[in-house]
Amino acid sequence: MTYILALDQGTSSSRSIVFDAQGQIVALAQRELPQIYPRPGWVEHSPVEIWNSQLATAQEALKKAGVTAGDIAAIGITNQRETTVLWNRKTGAPVHNALVWQDRRAEPICAQLREQGLADTIQQKTGLLIDAYFSGTKLQWLLDNVPGAREQAERGELAFGTVDTWLIWQLTQGRRHVTDVSNASRTMLFNVHTNAWDDELLAHLNIPRSLMPEVLPSSAEFGSTAEALLGSPIMIGGVAGDQQSALFGQACFSAGMAKNTYGTGCFMLMHTGHQFQTSKNGLLTTSAAQPRSRAEFAMEGSVFVGGAVVQWLRDGLRAIENSGEVQSLAESVPDSGGVMLVPAFTGLGAPYWKPDARGTITGLTRGTTLAHIARAALESIAYQSAALLQAMSRDAVAAGGAPVTELRVDGGASVNNLLMQFQADLLGIPVVRPACVETTALGAAYLAGLSCGLFKSTEELSALWKAERRFMPTMHRSRATELMAHWEHAVRQTTAD
Ligand code: G3P
Repeated sequence: MTYILALDQGTSSSRSIVFDAQGQIVALAQRELPQIYPRPGWVEHSPVEIWNSQLATAQEALKKAGVTAGDIAAIGITNQRETTVLWNRKTGAPVHNALVWQDRRAEPICAQLREQGLADTIQQKTGLLIDAYFSGTKLQWLLDNVPGAREQAERGELAFGTVDTWLIWQLTQGRRHVTDVSNASRTMLFNVHTNAWDDELLAHLNIPRSLMPEVLPSSAEFGSTAEALLGSPIMIGGVAGDQQSALFGQACFSAGMAKNTYGTGCFMLMHTGHQFQTSKNGLLTTSAAQPRSRAEFAMEGSVFVGGAVVQWLRDGLRAIENSGEVQSLAESVPDSGGVMLVPAFTGLGAPYWKPDARGTITGLTRGTTLAHIARAALESIAYQSAALLQAMSRDAVAAGGAPVTELRVDGGASVNNLLMQFQADLLGIPVVRPACVETTALGAAYLAGLSCGLFKSTEELSALWKAERRFMPTMHRSRATELMAHWEHAVRQTTAD
């Protein structure tokens, strides 16, 4: 029993990874997840496809690793957060497709909550800003719009869950209805101070308490898999939302440690220790993965268009044929030649919060080439991330802490050396890429390994975490400050009017 199986259920795919006791990858299996877009702004997943694809990859990963269920000490689960599933407790059948975190249909419900003056109460209790992103208003939408759902919910016949809860329900064949604190903290229904569902918020959103799962720390006994699924029963020992799991997998266990995941968008989280603090810079407060029952927090900010800007170069501008070409095109010029590209395609998030902003390119001259634009596009990922990190550092200092001293990175675009070097140059602190960039799955594996005793402590996990490469800042600080000022100037040009 010296392996851990991590299930990583993401927005675009379901993946399973077998890790050994040193946190090394033994085998990986992956399946794409179909996206359903019924209307503009609506995004759904089939809960049945989520489950089937996840189970298939788990079985495949065990096979590839050449191990059986008996060799697995525990399962760790990490998942796309906020995505909302509602199902019938008796039949296990979903009453509707899952509403994915990107789905905006609950915005009118959010507007009502804002009008009722609930913004402060919600931020103080949950750490979140009122937004359709979170599960609470999605769940209210389902209860109000799926015929018969509210009546069934009031009779106690339905169960709500984020994707972790749905997977555990399936894995235990309906025996456990549970989640962990990090996922619960993304619902806008969870009091992060008491680590419990908040009756006042449930009442404001008109959500019966009987729908809600039991909430456990992130490292705990979440149940055992049903015998028939993976060979023999395996204990589910760790659960965390994917961004908090990546923070854990990056061994960011104490206040001031931060990670950035460079995917389609970027998610930056900074651990803030045991103290709840709200941001003065438009960031969210969220529960970090909690290996014990003691509350731990993180600040979070996201860049809406990160790696997606490279897809736009490929599919929109047709500047490159495949995403991998972006680095060589960008490297064919020494810098962006004064071009700034702000990819505010869907507005700008923290720290700007300009939902109506649209993309802008500034600084074009007769000498500008596609290579300069490609470089500016790539650099925009670093500028947006730098603005987030600066906001986090300002919050940390305002709360009596220290600014962030190093940024740990992961996700697809973190393999791009040009981007990582530019990130370090802008920030003036080392940017560190770990040997294992599968940090999301690794975090869940660590949490599961702690609860089954395969790992003894977070100190042991810190020792296992190894850097693959440190990008040291080489740019003069005055140049970096000047570039950030150019960037902020370009951001000011994005307002749509
Ligand atoms: O909050 C949304 C986030 O959890 C989604 O992550 O990696 O599935 O796109 P990902």
